[in-house]
Amino acid sequence: MAKIHTALIFVYVCSAYFFILACARDVPTNSYTLLGHGDATPTGSNFTFVCDPKRYSSLGLDVTKFPFCDKSLPYDVRASDLVKQMTLSEKVLQLGNTNRGVPRLGLPKYEWWSEALHGVSNVGPGTFFDDLVPSSTSFPTLIDITGYGTQMKMQLHIPSKQARLDLDCGEFYPRYVEGSVQQGKVREAEIDKSLKNLYIVLLRLGFFDGIPQYTSFGKKDICSDEHVELAREAAREGTVLLKNVDQTLPLDADKIKTLAVIGPHANATAAMIGNYAGVPCKIVTPLDALSAYGEVNYKVGCGEMKCRNDSLIFPAMQAAEKADATIIVAGIDLSIEAESLDRDDLLLPGFQTQLIKQVADAAKGPVILVLFSAGGLDIGFAKNNKKIGAILWAGYPGEKGGLAIADVIFGKYNPGGRLPLTWHEASYADMLPMTSMPLRPVDSLGYPGRTYKFFNGSTVYPFAYGLSYTQFNYTLKSAVRSTHIKLNKFQHCYGIKYRAESHIPPCPAVRIDDMDCKEKINFEVEVKNVGDRDGSEVVVVYSKPPEGLDASHIKQVVGFQRVFVPAGGSKKVKFVLNVCNSLRVVDYNAYSVLPSGGHTIVIGDDIISFPVHVYFSS
Ligand SMILES: *[C@@H]1O[C@H](CO)[C@@H](O)[C@H](O)[C@H]1NC(C)=O
Ligand SMILES: *[C@@H]1O[C@H](CO)[C@@H](O)[C@H](O)[C@H]1NC(C)=O
Ligand SMILES: *[C@@H]1O[C@H](CO)[C@@H](O)[C@H](O)[C@H]1NC(C)=O
Ligand SMILES: *[C@@H]1O[C@H](CO)[C@@H](O)[C@H](O)[C@H]1NC(C)=O
Ligand SMILES: *[C@@H]1O[C@H](CO)[C@@H](O)[C@H](O)[C@H]1NC(C)=O
Repeated sequence: MAKIHTALIFVYVCSAYFFILACARDVPTNSYTLLGHGDATPTGSNFTFVCDPKRYSSLGLDVTKFPFCDKSLPYDVRASDLVKQMTLSEKVLQLGNTNRGVPRLGLPKYEWWSEALHGVSNVGPGTFFDDLVPSSTSFPTLIDITGYGTQMKMQLHIPSKQARLDLDCGEFYPRYVEGSVQQGKVREAEIDKSLKNLYIVLLRLGFFDGIPQYTSFGKKDICSDEHVELAREAAREGTVLLKNVDQTLPLDADKIKTLAVIGPHANATAAMIGNYAGVPCKIVTPLDALSAYGEVNYKVGCGEMKCRNDSLIFPAMQAAEKADATIIVAGIDLSIEAESLDRDDLLLPGFQTQLIKQVADAAKGPVILVLFSAGGLDIGFAKNNKKIGAILWAGYPGEKGGLAIADVIFGKYNPGGRLPLTWHEASYADMLPMTSMPLRPVDSLGYPGRTYKFFNGSTVYPFAYGLSYTQFNYTLKSAVRSTHIKLNKFQHCYGIKYRAESHIPPCPAVRIDDMDCKEKINFEVEVKNVGDRDGSEVVVVYSKPPEGLDASHIKQVVGFQRVFVPAGGSKKVKFVLNVCNSLRVVDYNAYSVLPSGGHTIVIGDDIISFPVHVYFSS
């Protein structure tokens, strides 16, 4: 049986929210001496920011000699100055998660791991807001970084300016980049650019200057009402409505008096938090939140998430038989999917499927299935089961997940979330080994493609699927349908593979690295809410490459916007897309190229599409 590569799925999910999580792992906390945990903590020394003049004098240095400590200069000038003062060897030592610092410049060690110093991580050497560090020293959160941690490490010689990784969560860069520069594989200017990005982030967040409004943040700010409400809102926005037959949902709170709340996640606590999370303020379980709407009869249905036997199913059926509505909260948790714990299949574990079927069969009232997971689940049985009126996917919704689920079920919130990945049929796991890394299909071995970009087979639910309690109509109001790019004498036409019998344009493509990439296309879509409930719509925009191109992606997301539209109202949504970023394809040699010819912009699930022509002239 092929194993599902959880790590890949995990990286996708996390990177969408916080990049740093994608490569976070438990690392020993005691092996680092950091500004924040050693160099500048209340118990270590008395310094909380790098450019404290007293700190410099304690090091025998004069802070005024270092322009990067001069607050009157712009951040980019200060960052450039710092980088310029380092030798190549010093530079490469700052490219891993454990920055070594540069003592002669007064630059301390720094640990980027696990969201650095923001104070809420439950893993890694960041700040915990414990007795040692009662308030934040600064708030470094990685931005301006694209790429996927360990997956990208192998691409040390990054060919495209569109794909760069400024920091390696590991030791690969510090160990090998100096050699790569000496061999001419990496330009020192690229390292300078990466370090400059990193130091601008740290400057903006107060690491060098101790920005007072950041330094004053502490434990009290984490669980404020505003932030607790944000947790609830994030969980609501992330909820995806997968099935809703005959408007099963929302339930009418006036009519439903008794609820059967069933399943191994019905009273979920820690499971809602997932991993690489912060320490929650106060968890509200689905059971807690649903109890506000009626008399609740809770039956767990399974002994544990793996649901190894059916001994608890019968009591759950009895509860469903009597209740006005039945809510089953099932799925998986970290005992089944986690880093270093790949799933064996895409099904619900053990007797969960049987629990859901039997409870649905027995139920008197409407049946709602709520699922927790990060990866996709083959729940085709529930999708096709007429007794199951509605299905919701909650992901791992966080501490206020229970409230969000109840808000959606009883119509206090109209869901608008969409799946961030394809939910494959279980047979997908047998079609290719987890060791096969190409995203493209491997025809010679019969392997299908990976992700919505390359997989064209049938699915349980496709990427970006998600329903609402209302309906939206799209109208294209305006669109730029062509772009003319004049090539200078250094910009050359580049050959790309077309399928036999396809029309090949005279200048098939130009490499993105050779281009200025200033061209933009724009268009405007009107989103009308034609139903009778207010709601949010996520407008997803894809591009499709020209017909006949060999082995390119089927489509790719190039933009999305979430808009709230009141019932009966409409909103205009404008997109401005960079031509290189939006219409490029990656060829067999891993070059990003812009093909000429007829591309297609697709809005939503093929609701609207229009051509965009790319012309090159010299
Ligand atoms: C920090 O400051 C306190 C009080 O001013 C002083 O007693 C202590 O020695 C200082 N610690 C260090 C490491 O300088
Ligand atoms: C729900 O879980 C909480 C926390 O684990 C526990 O204290 C509580 O007793 C559970 N509720 C029921 C009804 O089992
Ligand atoms: C069924 O599972 C429950 C909970 O895990 C366990 O306590 C019980 O002993 C199991 N029963 C049988 C017959 O294996
Ligand atoms: C779907 O992809 C496979 C490769 O996985 C390819 O052989 C097949 O022709 C494609 N089918 C369609 C209809 O595009
Ligand atoms: C929505 O659009 C579809 C097709 O684009 C059309 O058939 C339908 O009448 C529209 N509905 C409303 C209420 O405008």
